Amino acid sequence: MKEKLEQIREAARTQLAEAQADLEAIRIRYLGKKGELTGVLRGMGQLSAEERPKIGQLANEVREYIENAIAEKAEAQRKDALENKLKNERLDVTMPGKAPEIGKRHPLAQIQKEMEDIFVGMGFGIVEGPEVEYDYYNFQALNIPENHPARDTQDTFYITDNILLRSQTSPVQVRTMEKQKPPIRIISPGRVYRSDAVDATHSPLFHQLEGLVVDKGITMGDLKGTLETFAKTMFGDQTQIRFRPHHFPFTEPSAEVDVSCFVCGGKGCKLCKGEGWIEILGAGMVHPNVLRGCGIDPEEYSGFAFGMGIERVTMIKYGIDDMRYLYENDIRFLNEF
Ligand code: PHE
Repeated sequence: MKEKLEQIREAARTQLAEAQADLEAIRIRYLGKKGELTGVLRGMGQLSAEERPKIGQLANEVREYIENAIAEKAEAQRKDALENKLKNERLDVTMPGKAPEIGKRHPLAQIQKEMEDIFVGMGFGIVEGPEVEYDYYNFQALNIPENHPARDTQDTFYITDNILLRSQTSPVQVRTMEKQKPPIRIISPGRVYRSDAVDATHSPLFHQLEGLVVDKGITMGDLKGTLETFAKTMFGDQTQIRFRPHHFPFTEPSAEVDVSCFVCGGKGCKLCKGEGWIEILGAGMVHPNVLRGCGIDPEEYSGFAFGMGIERVTMIKYGIDDMRYLYENDIRFLNEF
């Protein structure tokens, strides 16, 4: 029996020496109810009274030995596992981080926002109108009857005979005056369409910002003051504006408005093509026919309107010489702004 106990101790020692030893299986094998050591203890009854305490003591030693060895091994395995985990999950905090890429507004959207802020600062509200528009709002209500030559310069895309993609933001003037009685003071930015071939200064889709003010006693002086404030805020305090007579069917009188070149200050340079002035918009006093068509009495009220190209202002302000850059979405170009 003594040998048997020594054997058990030895066998347990060998098994526990293995790195991956299954501790629970070992415990059951030796110390479990049907385990080998338990088996030996059961046979103790057959021993002589003299031998029994000696074997009993040895058996206890062997049990203690196995129990301790299992506990030590468990601790060793736990440490190993932890070390492995730490090794595998190690993080090199000295590695350079990944900078999150933050998007930003497209240059056209930046300029549009800047324009909006300037007019909102002067008390204008912002309204929107549909891009798919009736011929009535885009032309007829703006004093451009069928077959009027002004339609040629604004040839657009037709959905049906009387539904089209708006060629200007001016229809929003009419929609606003139909809904709202004076005083009116609004701007309306948005997309417009014309059936133009793409080149450095043309695109079938571009953006305009319309302005409209209607009230009692509105004069061309108000128009000039408003546009001058806009020009100085947008292009710098030195900026002058200049009105040139022009014709739009829906304003009378009408003008094209230039700003003094903010690069050369009027001497003439590449940006202004030697002119000293840069055209930025069309404007005028709202035509009595347009007011009347919207149910506003031109004897009582007057107003001014203007419309400018957002691409145009963006290109001037940033010195962009080809409009196509604005639509290609080349990230190298966009990152410049
Ligand atoms: N809608 C005109 C255009 O696209 C510009 C304009 C707007 C002119 C308002 C006068 C008044 O050319």
